[in-house]
Amino acid sequence: MYESYYHLSGKPFQLNPDPAFFFGSRGHRRAMAYLEYGLHQSEGFIVITGEIGAGKTTLVRSLLERLDSEKVVAANLVSTQIDAGDMLRMVAAAFGVPSRHLEKADLLLALETFLVSTTAAGKRALLIVDEAQNLTPAAVEELRMLSNFQLEDHALLQSFLIGQPEFREIMQSPRMQQLRQRVIASYHLGPLDAGETRAYIEHRLHRVGWQDDPLFSAEAFRAVYVATGGIPRQINTLCDRLMLAAFLGERHAVGEGDVHEIVDEMQQEMAVPSGDGGAPGGARSNGNGHAHPAANGFDLRLLDPARLQVGAELARQVEALAAGTDLQRIEARLTRLEQSVSATLGLLSQLLQAVRRDKPNEGRKHEH
Ligand SMILES: Nc1ncnc2c1ncn2[C@@H]1O[C@H](COP(=O)(O)OP(=O)(O)OP(=O)(O)O)[C@@H](O)[C@H]1O
Ligand SMILES: [Mg+2]
Repeated sequence: MYESYYHLSGKPFQLNPDPAFFFGSRGHRRAMAYLEYGLHQSEGFIVITGEIGAGKTTLVRSLLERLDSEKVVAANLVSTQIDAGDMLRMVAAAFGVPSRHLEKADLLLALETFLVSTTAAGKRALLIVDEAQNLTPAAVEELRMLSNFQLEDHALLQSFLIGQPEFREIMQSPRMQQLRQRVIASYHLGPLDAGETRAYIEHRLHRVGWQDDPLFSAEAFRAVYVATGGIPRQINTLCDRLMLAAFLGERHAVGEGDVHEIVDEMQQEMAVPSGDGGAPGGARSNGNGHAHPAANGFDLRLLDPARLQVGAELARQVEALAAGTDLQRIEARLTRLEQSVSATLGLLSQLLQAVRRDKPNEGRKHEH
C-alpha cells in the first residue's frame, strides 16, 4: 500500500520467512555456522532452538538456498504433531521415496536403500525437521533409529532439529537420553540486540530500495527495539504498521512518538476490554509509560495463519481465535456505546420534562 509512495520495489516487512531478506545477525550467523559444521560432520543431530519468531525457519530456508544440490540431498519436514506412525512415511515423502502401501519394515528398507544409493552417488542426505517441539517422543525415537543407518562406518543421514524453546525441555527428559548422545551440537537463537534491531530494519528497507524515506530517527529505532524485545517477527509487524501510519499521515519521517503511538494502538487492539477501559491480560508498561507488547508473551494477533506452517485445521482454529478476539472487542465497544447512548437519551428526556415543568403552556401556545 505504502510501497509506491515511498518508491519501494516491494514490501519490506512481510511475515514470510523469505531468504532473500536474510539478515546475518550475530545469532543467525552462529546458528548457520553450527548447521554448516553439522553438514561437514555428516552424522548425528544438530539442534537449534529459538524464541517464537526469532528466525529459525528463515535460517533453514537460507541454508537450503545455499546448499549445493550436487552434493547434498535435503528434505525439509515441517512437523505438525507428527506421531511415530507417520514419521517414516513423512520422511520418505520428503525425500521423494515412494512409500504407499508399504508396511513399516518395507518402508525402512526403502529408506535405507535410498540413503545407501545417495551416499554411493557421493551425496549427503540431510533431513531438517522444523517445529520439532511438536514431535511426540515416539516420533523422535523413529528419527533416532533412522540416524542409525550406516554404510560401512559412515552414517547415511544427517539431521537438523529446529524448534521453539520448549524443545530444549523435551530434549532434557530422560526419554531423550539416547538421542542426546547423538547430538553433535546445539544452539539457542536469541533475540537481536538494540544495534542489530536497527541494522535489521535498515537491511530489510534497503532490500527494497529504501533511500531514507521515511527517515527513522535513532530514538525511533531504539523504541522499536524496546517494544519488540528484538524479536524479528514482532519488529516486522510493528514496522509495517509504522510505515502504513506514516504513509496515511503523508509523513516522511518516523520518530519515537510515532512508535509509542502505534505500540499503544496495537496494545489497545489486543486488550480484551474489562468494562473500565483497562487493558487486562498482562499489558505492562516498559518503564516510560508506554505499553510493551513483548512483555505480553505470545501475541495471537501477530500471527498470520496463512503463513503458518501448520495443518489447515490448526491454521483455521488460530484464525477463528484471532477473529474471535476481534469480535469480542467490537462487541464490547458496541455495548459501551449502547450504554452511553441510552444514558444520553435518559438525560435528554429528563431535561425535556424539566423544561415542560418550568414552562407548562409553552408547547400549547405553538399548537394554536
Ligand atoms: N535473520 C533474519 N533475516 C531476515 N528476516 C528475518 C530473520 N529472522 C527472522 N526474520 C523475519 O522474522 C519473521 C519470523 O521469522 P521465522 O518465521 O523464521 O521465525 P521462526 O523462529 O521460525 O518462528 P516460529 O517459532 O513461529 O516458527 C519472518 O518475517 C522473517 O522474515
Ligand atoms: Mg518457524
